Amino acid sequence: MTVPAKIKREVASLREQIEHHNRLYHSLDTPEIPDADYDALLLRLEELEKEYDLATSDSPTQRVGSTPLSQFSQVTHEIAMLSLDKVFGEQELKDFENRIKKRLDSDEELAYSCEPKVDGVAVSLLYENGDLIRAATRGDGVTGEDITHNVRTIRSIPLQLSDVKKKSRLEVRGEIFLSKPGFEALNKRAQKEGTKIFVNPRNTAAGAVRQLDSKATAKIPLEMYCYSVGIVEGIKLPDELSGIFNELAGFGLPVNPDRKTEQGIDGCLDYCMSLLEKRNDLIYEIDGAVIKVDNLTTQRSLGQNAKSPRWAMAYKFPAEEKSTTVLDVEFQVGRTGTITPVARLDPVFVGGVTVSNTTLHNMDEIERLGLRIGDTVVVRRAGDVIPKVVKVLNPKENKKPRKIKLPAKCPACSSPIEKDGEVLFRCSAGIICPAQQKESIKHFASRTAMDIEGLGSKLVEQLVDEGLIESVADIYTLTTEQLADLERMGTKSAQNLVDAIVKSKKTTLPRFLFGLGIREVGDATALSLVNHFGDIDPIAAASPEELEKVADIGPIVAQHIAAFFGNRNNLALIKKLRKAGINWPSVDVSAAEKPLEGQTFVLTGTLEAMPRNEAKAQLLGLGAKVAGSVSKNTDCVVAGPGAGSKRTKAEELGVKIIDEGEFLAFLDDLS
Ligand code: IVH
Repeated sequence: MTVPAKIKREVASLREQIEHHNRLYHSLDTPEIPDADYDALLLRLEELEKEYDLATSDSPTQRVGSTPLSQFSQVTHEIAMLSLDKVFGEQELKDFENRIKKRLDSDEELAYSCEPKVDGVAVSLLYENGDLIRAATRGDGVTGEDITHNVRTIRSIPLQLSDVKKKSRLEVRGEIFLSKPGFEALNKRAQKEGTKIFVNPRNTAAGAVRQLDSKATAKIPLEMYCYSVGIVEGIKLPDELSGIFNELAGFGLPVNPDRKTEQGIDGCLDYCMSLLEKRNDLIYEIDGAVIKVDNLTTQRSLGQNAKSPRWAMAYKFPAEEKSTTVLDVEFQVGRTGTITPVARLDPVFVGGVTVSNTTLHNMDEIERLGLRIGDTVVVRRAGDVIPKVVKVLNPKENKKPRKIKLPAKCPACSSPIEKDGEVLFRCSAGIICPAQQKESIKHFASRTAMDIEGLGSKLVEQLVDEGLIESVADIYTLTTEQLADLERMGTKSAQNLVDAIVKSKKTTLPRFLFGLGIREVGDATALSLVNHFGDIDPIAAASPEELEKVADIGPIVAQHIAAFFGNRNNLALIKKLRKAGINWPSVDVSAAEKPLEGQTFVLTGTLEAMPRNEAKAQLLGLGAKVAGSVSKNTDCVVAGPGAGSKRTKAEELGVKIIDEGEFLAFLDDLS
């Protein structure tokens, strides 16, 4: 078929535009056009390629996957793909530098390339004359598998390098990974569609790159960061890794924005510490840092051991997944009566803490995991997230498995258990169930709520068990004499507690509202409600529709709030508490301006003086929007210590960045 020149030009231009947008979207995270416009370009290209039979393997349309393979072919790496030695602490890293200096017979300060150790899959990409011609797994370092068909589906990997047209061969190596948001989105979809839940981003990425059917790979939003080069022919690259990274970025290859060049091993240690601090804020998972001698000539003179180079070292962070045994499963009754299975574990050090029990959420989760008592399981604790059982290991090796059964009666009060919604079970007794009483009192007294110092978990249990209190209102009737009679409580402590109880009466409405324990009303929602309505009576009188007008309140939360205030017992309780003397300063919403109306803020890093939730609620109250990611529409980023990629992106986009001190002063100025 003869193809008109006009069509050929359009196809070439579409391919160029699509690759340009792929790069903006995936590598630089700065999309210029809406997704729908991008889809339209792709659709037009697909139509033209079909009509004029113009499809080529390097066309961006092929990123959706091609015909399945029956097996992988083998690839021999011309230059072996080495592995890394690892250390776990400061002294070991210093020893690494000492060995290097000894070998070089020099005491001169060295520059190091410090990089996140991305937790994904190592791959090699081979470009000939600027075209991606082959992608391979590391395999055993000498022989890997040809995964070109899958790698072509990854949009941040250019099929052609920019500005590399002449006769050349360039092999870049790096890590293919799945970002944390990508992983969450996949699992959200899997949950909705009832398909298999993915265990963790790394395994998902590893599975995706080794698919015979690239259409399956294309469904996983994989990404890549390049961290080294192998074959380099016909291209002149700098003699420093830092310079090479800049050059690779110039070719359109994705490189890690969180890399840094440091002087001396102390600089590297600072890098490792700050990377560890911002680990949770990174949008990809890491298992450590990689420290490499920056100069390539020095690298060559250091050479390698059997499997790893002498010029690089992995500084490993605490593992976020470990295996342990489930010793038992108990059922706990929560503040609102929900029955939750909790696994008692053989204590295990994971993600930097010792974990000895963890929630299993509900019976469906137990079924999904196929969990039985005695099983060996993988426990994951990533960041500050609560530990989670993610997988049962070798179920056949559990010689005495015990099935986990939901109790027929509430473990706290023996009332019947009833089903609540799709997956939850609840004690039918309501607030008279002692477990529910205890949990709601603990919540009411907690620091974020009424902040009654000294009224902790153990004492609440004791007070309820002794029959001294049944509801939160009873707290305000406690006397020093009653308390002093309790075991392990002297007159002095009893007096202190009574003083703390009296002190708690002077509170704020958001604290009080939060303390009431309305389902799904956290401290930030409580603050938003107060900022919107000003006092408790209009909140209690509001319809679900009116409640939905409050920033961040959706239909479900609105229903919970309306149901709470629709219950006469709850209204009576509030009355009793106010009669006991609980009071708060009034909030004048009529005068409340919205000085930040139309502005978008992003909060990142650790905020020390003000919890992130509260900062968010204050911003919402002032009319601002609070977004989860930085874009060119962001007006201001509040960056606490450990701020990572969001801060970098704000810097790249020239978005205003302020620290917590400046933020607090800014709020002060507005109030
Ligand atoms: S350099 C000779 N840099 O870690 C140097 N590796 O445990 C070879 N990895 O197989 C690797 N991030 O899959 C290097 N910035 C980084 C890395 C990195 C992750 C992985 C890589 C390697 C493994 C070694």
